[in-house]
Amino acid sequence: MYKSIKGTKDILPAESARWQFVERTLRDIFHRYNYKEIRTPIFEQTSLFARSIGELTDIVGKEMYSFTDRSEESITLRPEGTASVIRSFIQNNLDQIQPLTKVFYIGPMFRQERPQAGRLRQFHQFGAEAAGSPTAETDVEIISLAVEIYRKFGLKNFQLKINSVGDEDCRPRYKELLKKELLKVADKLSPESQKRIEQNPMRVLDSKDERDKELTAGMPLITEYLNEECSVHFERVKALLSTCNIPFVVDGKLVRGLDYYTKTAFEITSTALGSQDALAGGGRYDLLVKELGGKPTPSVGFAAGIERLMMILENNHFEFPEPAPALFLAAADDDSREWIFKRANELRSQGIAVEIDLLARSLKAQMKEADRQNAEFSVVIGKTELQNGTAQLKNLRNHSQKQILLSDLEKELQ
Ligand code: HAM
Repeated sequence: MYKSIKGTKDILPAESARWQFVERTLRDIFHRYNYKEIRTPIFEQTSLFARSIGELTDIVGKEMYSFTDRSEESITLRPEGTASVIRSFIQNNLDQIQPLTKVFYIGPMFRQERPQAGRLRQFHQFGAEAAGSPTAETDVEIISLAVEIYRKFGLKNFQLKINSVGDEDCRPRYKELLKKELLKVADKLSPESQKRIEQNPMRVLDSKDERDKELTAGMPLITEYLNEECSVHFERVKALLSTCNIPFVVDGKLVRGLDYYTKTAFEITSTALGSQDALAGGGRYDLLVKELGGKPTPSVGFAAGIERLMMILENNHFEFPEPAPALFLAAADDDSREWIFKRANELRSQGIAVEIDLLARSLKAQMKEADRQNAEFSVVIGKTELQNGTAQLKNLRNHSQKQILLSDLEKELQ
């Protein structure tokens, strides 16, 4: 028997309505902020991701699904959406249509991580990117959009953490300083952190290892070494968040797992998630468009995991709307089945969701099925009903009943 690949999951018919509801809600919120949907391919040239996300990151170093296709080209299943969006932005000259491009996406991403609760190999993200604005207002629009989504779904236990990771002017100076401090305790750090000192010292501050955390506790933070421009920007972001009543904490150790960030970086975490506690992450990336061959374009965005949102909603017993047939048309005898078959199709083309029995079952079994399908109404049709042109319309939710003309079925159900 075939099984799905480790770290992938089927979204079964019983769950798909929940996914559709979540996606509808997301689309509605994106629309309110005037972000338009962009759909990019699931796979891209490997070098696009290596160059954007960074050769030394875990994603590029060990998690990408890469393969050589029959034309000997190295292809990768997208591990995230930003690189593809920016590739498309440049390729399609989206900057020439309007000065600020605001897009959103919803779709599958692929990373070969060790699967666990809330961590899959094919997972789904929703995200938004705003390309073309350097203002702090844009950062806060992106953050407020992300926060609004969780508020809209009624989430309570989530926290917004923000940091500034500086820019190409102040970050290198800070990195040198941090490297010196880390080298003093290098032999006591975890092997993973030791490896990072040279190339990616800021990630050491982000280590989950308890001993690493103790050793780096008092080390200088980037927020204390920002240049004037980054510092002013960061202060403005914080002020705007407060103005908008969006609570946040500054976490000077927040460094994201992707290398393209400049200035603002943020994460939304939830204690309801366990060890994979990140609901969403994002930040500003002012150098990426140029790095990928476009004109310098200051940009900011975020992305979030749908499975993680879903886990919390299910734990909270969120009341998802469950689609159900409006009407179950049941056959009291075999002679009425043809009439029912025809009538069901007519009602369906009138826009009414109708279910009938395709398994030639007894009336009792049909009524059981109507309940299982959570149909709103049922009508039983037999010889008498067809002769009189009337039937009982039964409300299966409150068990009331009324006599109706068969010719009035549409009207009664509308
Ligand atoms: P990221 O932090 O790598 O950022 O991913 C964003 C979110 O995707 C995470 O917070 C998490 O909810 C979800 N996620 C990531 N990996 C997995 C996984 N293996 N299983 C389930 N969920 C996962 C980005 O992807 C950036 N592109 C965000 C961004 C957009 N920055 C600027 N614009």
